[in-house]
Amino acid sequence: MTSDLTTVSVDLGTRSYPIWIGSGLLARSGELLGDRLVRGRTVVVTDETVASLYLEHLQGSLGMPSETIILPAGEATKSFAHLEWLCEQLLEAGVERKDCILALGGGVIGDLTGFAASILRRGCGFAQVPTTLLAQVDSSIGGKTAINATAGKNLIGAFHQPVAVLIDTETLDTLSDRELRAGYAEVVKYGLIDDPAFFGWCETHAQALLAGDSEARSQAIEISCLAKARIVGLDERETSGTRVLLNLGHTFGHALEAEAGFSDQLLHGEAVALGLLLAFDVSVLLGLCPQADAQRLRIHLKSLGFATTLSECGMAHRGARMIAHMAQDKKMDGGRLPFLLARGIGQTFLATDVDLNIVRDFLDQAT
Ligand SMILES: NC(=O)c1ccc[n+]([C@@H]2O[C@H](COP(=O)([O-])OP(=O)(O)OC[C@H]3O[C@@H](n4cnc5c(N)ncnc54)[C@H](O)[C@@H]3O)[C@@H](O)[C@H]2O)c1
Ligand SMILES: [Zn+2]
Repeated sequence: MTSDLTTVSVDLGTRSYPIWIGSGLLARSGELLGDRLVRGRTVVVTDETVASLYLEHLQGSLGMPSETIILPAGEATKSFAHLEWLCEQLLEAGVERKDCILALGGGVIGDLTGFAASILRRGCGFAQVPTTLLAQVDSSIGGKTAINATAGKNLIGAFHQPVAVLIDTETLDTLSDRELRAGYAEVVKYGLIDDPAFFGWCETHAQALLAGDSEARSQAIEISCLAKARIVGLDERETSGTRVLLNLGHTFGHALEAEAGFSDQLLHGEAVALGLLLAFDVSVLLGLCPQADAQRLRIHLKSLGFATTLSECGMAHRGARMIAHMAQDKKMDGGRLPFLLARGIGQTFLATDVDLNIVRDFLDQAT
């Protein structure tokens, strides 16, 4: 075995688990996951695109028989209909509570499979094998699982931690440039939350990362996993005010996604990138954040080809509609919507007293 391996731990007492990061790790899945595959057989859940690229490779390295369940690719798969079908398939496959279902794919497969695992027989084991940048730095870690509802994204779900996360960074070689860049929004988010030095690193290395530089890629994934693991370890269920910081850019981002009908017009990460900028712009408007910091972020995102204005996404002058989407936000508290704002790069905080009329007017006037 030659591939280098970095392990990041998510420390949650009896629910602690490792995140293994390395190039070529799919070939070591049997060796790494072995102890967790207690019954000597398992089920791999994936989507059609990922199945054609990596399913055989993963199954071949497990060193034991495995069944497969293949779902359509895309956000629409995070639905009640697909959840029902998946649960029925898992039961038909005879999955037991101590089994370990493997979620091979992006955030869609990870979120759906994790949710199915959380409710199947009142909770089965599952491991994440994320294959998109977004899933490798964010969604596969921390145990948030969900499907979408008509009223909004991720509104039906559960906290259910995986037993392990296996990240083969080489899988990103086949990801489209657009998906890779979208996932990068969640990387730069960690710098903006509380790590200004990492934001500086991003300014220097993001171009290389997006061009496929494996060193920059591995470093970004490791730093992101460390940040996510630390925050989840401090506040697993988003109750103490720490984990909520990970939603920076997401209140705006989810509203933009909803306006785009959760379609390919705007990927999650693209919406988050613009959402990050809007959060900084509102922070400047409220006199909380220096204009120079918002400008630094704008220049960085623009240099990578992200949309940095509402009109570029066809979302200008939709203040009232966006506020209506935000009213479905999971952070809503007694009719008030707390906002994640920033006092500067690396200084995110939760503001509970933001006047929604100001945000609506800002969204109406911003171009
Ligand atoms: N649970 C969480 O904490 C959390 C955090 C952030 C985002 N999310 C969720 O994650 C979802 C988005 O995840 P995503 O961006 O990974 O989308 P995705 O799972 O839809 O994957 C994007 C596309 O890339 C394809 N793909 C996946 N891996 C590939 C590879 N290696 N090579 C080529 N193609 C590949 C997929 O088939 C899909 O078409 C959203 O539903 C979002 O709500 C969840
Ligand atoms: Zn996100």
